[in-house]
Amino acid sequence: MSSTYGEKIKISVFGESHGNGIGVVIDGLPAGVKIDMDKVLVQMSRRAPGKDKTATPRKESDLPKVLSGMLGDTLTGAPLCAVIENTNTKSGDYGNLLNCPRPGHSDYTAYIKYNASNDIRGGGHFSGRLTAPIVFAGAICRQILEEKGIKIAAHIASIGNVSDDSFNPVAIDDELINKLNNSTFALIDESVEEKMRAEVESARLAQDSIGGTIECAVSGIEAGIGEPMFDGVEGVIAKAVFGVPAIKGIEFGKGFELSKMRGSQSNDPFEYKDGKVVTKTNNCGGILGGITNGMPVIFRAGVKPTPSISKEQDTVDLQKKENAKLVINGRHDPCIVPRAVPVIEAVTAVAIINLL
Ligand SMILES: Cc1cc2nc3c(=O)[nH]c(=O)nc-3n(C[C@H](O)[C@H](O)[C@H](O)COP(=O)(O)O)c2cc1C
Repeated sequence: MSSTYGEKIKISVFGESHGNGIGVVIDGLPAGVKIDMDKVLVQMSRRAPGKDKTATPRKESDLPKVLSGMLGDTLTGAPLCAVIENTNTKSGDYGNLLNCPRPGHSDYTAYIKYNASNDIRGGGHFSGRLTAPIVFAGAICRQILEEKGIKIAAHIASIGNVSDDSFNPVAIDDELINKLNNSTFALIDESVEEKMRAEVESARLAQDSIGGTIECAVSGIEAGIGEPMFDGVEGVIAKAVFGVPAIKGIEFGKGFELSKMRGSQSNDPFEYKDGKVVTKTNNCGGILGGITNGMPVIFRAGVKPTPSISKEQDTVDLQKKENAKLVINGRHDPCIVPRAVPVIEAVTAVAIINLL
């Protein structure tokens, strides 16, 4: 199982949703950097369940215990290991999934790949809960990035058919970044919140779930970072973003919309501004030839609807080898998008630090 990402700064995520605990080992961190653990906890709390009305009511303390790699508040340079205990699990809810895989979840593919030895409880290693240690790792990486003037922010770009404003692609405001970095329902235009919540509520009442998109921006990143071809900035970020469960798409800049434009519309014209080369627009999302051009790096990720829904679904019974009906018990978010926002920021931080 490859739950490891990165070369210069490598994160290895371990654990299962209803096992003893989950956690992460981060290799390659620079020694001597002071970490503000309160800021790390803010990020973890944004992702934790039960913090927002759209989230599962399951409440977990999600407090990371640092086992190694820090002396007081300073990184020692040794592998940083943080563990989060699993304290609030109701494995009984998963009994009927042992033989009947949930449509849309990893139950069937994990059953095949691991010969039914995988821990199915709570989705095991495939659970959204495993994003808690990812957020921990990202929160450490982004503090190191912030020292270099690089800031990362994401927001809920859409839920169902309701959309937020987009980032100004050529200049991301620090105040906006700060607001989004501290929000559990991160929006640029807060007036759409009620409509988005109504979309989620209507899905929940229909015993269903709903998806959406997340827009993420990296500001303060200089030109010339990234490699051509397979180690380009798009590839490095996409690999990290696809590590997040339920992400099914990613587009940089104007993405697929570019395919419908003329070159004269899609090209970002250059100009000198305060002695610096910038572009007037940012349709390419700050990346040309896999290399940053000094403009904000901007991408959107598509989040699918939560696979576990309470509506009855068709599945199969793998023991009896016959068709079956499935009713899923347990506590599941009708919409993953708000909680996935800090996760997308976190994986982006881990990707960017590896590119530097
Ligand atoms: C923050 C977060 C929370 C999630 N919570 C749930 C959940 O409560 N129920 C569920 O079925 N899936 C949840 N998921 C999604 C599943 O983990 C994911 O769909 C599953 O592992 C299959 O992977 P795939 O969708 O990437 O193919 C969550 C994902 C994230 C990022």
